[in-house]
Amino acid sequence: MRMVDVISKKRDGKELTTEEIQFVVDGYTAGKIPDYQVSALAMAIFFQDMTDRERADLTMAMVNSGETIDLSAIEGIKVDKHSTGGVGDTTTLVLAPLVAALDVPVAKMSGRGLGHTGGTIDKLEAIEGFHVEITKEQFIDLVNRDKVAVIGQSGNLTPADKKLYALRDVTGTVNSIPLIASSIMSKKIAAGADAIVLDVKTGAGAFMKTDKDAENLAHAMVRIGNNVGRQTMAVISDMSQPLGFAIGNALEVQEAIDTLKGEGPEDLTELVLILGSQMVVLAKKAKDLDEAREMLKEVMANGKALAKFKDFLNNQGGDGSIVDDPSKLPQAKFKIDVPAKESGVVSEIVADEIGIAAMLLGAGRATKEDEIDLAVGIMLRKKVGDKVAAGEPLVTIYANKEDVKAVEAKIYENIRVSDKAEAPKLIHTIITE
Ligand code: URA
Ligand code: CA
Repeated sequence: MRMVDVISKKRDGKELTTEEIQFVVDGYTAGKIPDYQVSALAMAIFFQDMTDRERADLTMAMVNSGETIDLSAIEGIKVDKHSTGGVGDTTTLVLAPLVAALDVPVAKMSGRGLGHTGGTIDKLEAIEGFHVEITKEQFIDLVNRDKVAVIGQSGNLTPADKKLYALRDVTGTVNSIPLIASSIMSKKIAAGADAIVLDVKTGAGAFMKTDKDAENLAHAMVRIGNNVGRQTMAVISDMSQPLGFAIGNALEVQEAIDTLKGEGPEDLTELVLILGSQMVVLAKKAKDLDEAREMLKEVMANGKALAKFKDFLNNQGGDGSIVDDPSKLPQAKFKIDVPAKESGVVSEIVADEIGIAAMLLGAGRATKEDEIDLAVGIMLRKKVGDKVAAGEPLVTIYANKEDVKAVEAKIYENIRVSDKAEAPKLIHTIITE
C-alpha cells in the first residue's frame, strides 16, 4: 500500500477501507509515514469528510495504537462522563462521588487544565495530600471497594491521537468534525468505559461556539460510540457564561461540597442532576431518568454523597476533613469586590474571557510548565438575568497580590449590564443517536 494513493483517494472524495485507515494510523505511529503526508491526508479529510464507518475505523485504529485500560476487573457497568471543556466547570468533582453514592462505579482518568479551562486533577490537588499517582491495581481495588477513584492520564494512551492532534494544531486541520470526534472518542474508549455520557458545551467559553456546531460534534461522537459497541449519549449544555459561581481550584472544591449537600448554584446542580441521571440509567441502577433523579437528590439530602466525597479524598491521601471545615482549603490573601458601575440586569458574562481573567490571577496555566496558585480565582456574585444595583459586587476576586487592575479591567470589559436580559437556557438538546 502506498500513502500517496490513500491521500489521492480521499482527496477525490472516495471512502477509505478499514485496511487503508489502519495502514495510515500504524505507519504514522511507528514513524514510517512522514508528517507531510499525514497533514495532506488530514486536509483532504477536512474537505471531503468521512463516512460513519471510516470514523469508527479511525477511532478504533487510534485506540489500538497504544495501551488500553482494562476495567473488566471492576464489577458493574463503567460509565464515563466527558466534558468538551468549559470555564468553572465543577461537574466532575460533584458527579464522581454523587453517582458513586448510588453504587455506580466511577473509574476516572483525568487531566490537568490548560488555557482558560481548568482540569479536574488541579482542582483535587487543592486538597492537602490528595494525589492521583496510584497504581492500576490500587485504582481498580478502590473502585471495587468504594466505587470511585481518579488516576492521572497514562502516558501510553492513544499515541496516534497525540501525534495527529499536534500535527493538526499546526496545519489548520483541528476544526474537522470527523477528526475531533474520533480524537475525543478514542481517548474515552482506550480508558475503558463501557458507556459514555458526553457533555458538549456550546457558547463563548466552549470549543464549539454555536449550537449547530455543538450538535454536529455530538451526533458524530454518539454515532462513533454506538457503532463500536459503547452506549453513548450527549447533552448539549450552555457555556456562554461560566458554570456555577466559582472559577478557581480551591473555590471550585468548596462549590462542589456545597453542591453535594444540595446547596450549590442552581445551574451546576441542574447540570449535575441531568448528567448524573443519564449515568445512573446507563449503569442500570435505575429504571428511568425520573427515578434516577430522585435517587440522586436523596443522596444529596441524606449526606451520603458528601460522605462518599470524604472517603474518596481520604483514599487518595487527601485530607477528607476539609468537607466539614472548608477553611482548611488554600485561602487567598485578598478578597476584592468589583462593583457594578450602573444599575440594571446582567446581560452577558463572556465565559472564555472570565476564564482568562482567572488565569491572570494564577488559577490556570498559559503554558504546560506554569505553576498554578490553588487559592486564587473569581467568584461570580451575579449571573446572566440577575438584577444588579450600582455599587453591588458583580464578582469577588480572590488574589494573592494586591494589584489586580488588569483583572478588574477584563471583568468590566466582559460583564455587561443592560436594561433587560434573561438567563440562558442551560440544557440545549439531548442527543442519543
Ligand atoms: N479535543 C480533543 O481531544 N481532540 C480534538 O481533536 C479536539 C479537542
Ligand atoms: Ca463553577
